[in-house]
Amino acid sequence: MSEPACPQKKPYVIELEPGTYWWCACGQSKTQPFCDGSHKGSEFSPKEVKITEKKKYGLCGCKRSNNKPMCDGTHKSLG
Ligand code: FES
Ligand code: FES
Repeated sequence: MSEPACPQKKPYVIELEPGTYWWCACGQSKTQPFCDGSHKGSEFSPKEVKITEKKKYGLCGCKRSNNKPMCDGTHKSLG
């Protein structure tokens, strides 16, 4: 498995309304942190995020969290 791109080494903190979202796993989307279809032709596919509560979420921007799609602090150990 090749490494995803790293759009930023910190989370995207955004308020989300309840609904279904597609988190970009490949790191190539131009509409981070969500998928814009740029993964096509790669081995990556977006991860479905089901939000039931309206609040702020920290979505992983480094694409290396162990709790995708949420940031788990892994970005702090990136060089
Ligand atoms: Fe990255 Fe779709 S653009 S997963
Ligand atoms: Fe990826 Fe924090 S931004 S783990």
